[in-house]
Amino acid sequence: MHQYENFHIVDHPLIQHKLSLIREKTTGHKIFRELVNEVATLVAFELTRDFPTNSTQIKTPMTSTTGQTIVGQNVVLVPILRAGLGMVEGLIQLIPNARVGYVGMERNEKTHEPVDYYFKIPKEPEHKNFILIDPMLATGGTAIATANSLKKRGATQIKFMCLIAAPEGMSAFCEAHPDIEVYTAALDEKLNENKYIIPGLGDAGDRLFGTL
Ligand code: URA
Repeated sequence: MHQYENFHIVDHPLIQHKLSLIREKTTGHKIFRELVNEVATLVAFELTRDFPTNSTQIKTPMTSTTGQTIVGQNVVLVPILRAGLGMVEGLIQLIPNARVGYVGMERNEKTHEPVDYYFKIPKEPEHKNFILIDPMLATGGTAIATANSLKKRGATQIKFMCLIAAPEGMSAFCEAHPDIEVYTAALDEKLNENKYIIPGLGDAGDRLFGTL
């Protein structure tokens, strides 16, 4: 279906079911928001599969044994404003100790390149596991620029997650950042002339925040 080893489609039946409800245009923002967070949790379950764990000694009511723990405080969720915010709660359900950075991107009027107007991440980025979040991977321009900015600040361990990707965004991102694993709930058909994903779900930010 595609040739990118770092691109993963998490198409579990539960995810497909919820994604169909998300796509449906009559779904209002309350339910849309709940479902986006639920799908984010389910995709994150797969994304975190190879997260490092530490051994810890525990006592069950029966005996002592060795358990494994994730150092949640080393995980940094980085939603790309505004639509990325809609997935944060779903990830926090899974990793309650995760830190949250924020990135706001806008297009430079002269160069038309996306540049960050707001960028806040925790100290010591080289020791953190970053999860970059944006529900729609359309052209890939914003996600690529955000990953560039994270790397420039010293981040080395980055994963990207979205709900829906376009083939154009997948190719652009995977070629720009072959070292970043991408997780999505769906790979759609194409972009239209306005760079919206087809069939997609419309404008994710507007549907999340009721600004249609
Ligand atoms: N951003 C959106 O919100 N929707 C698309 O289809 C593409 C980019």
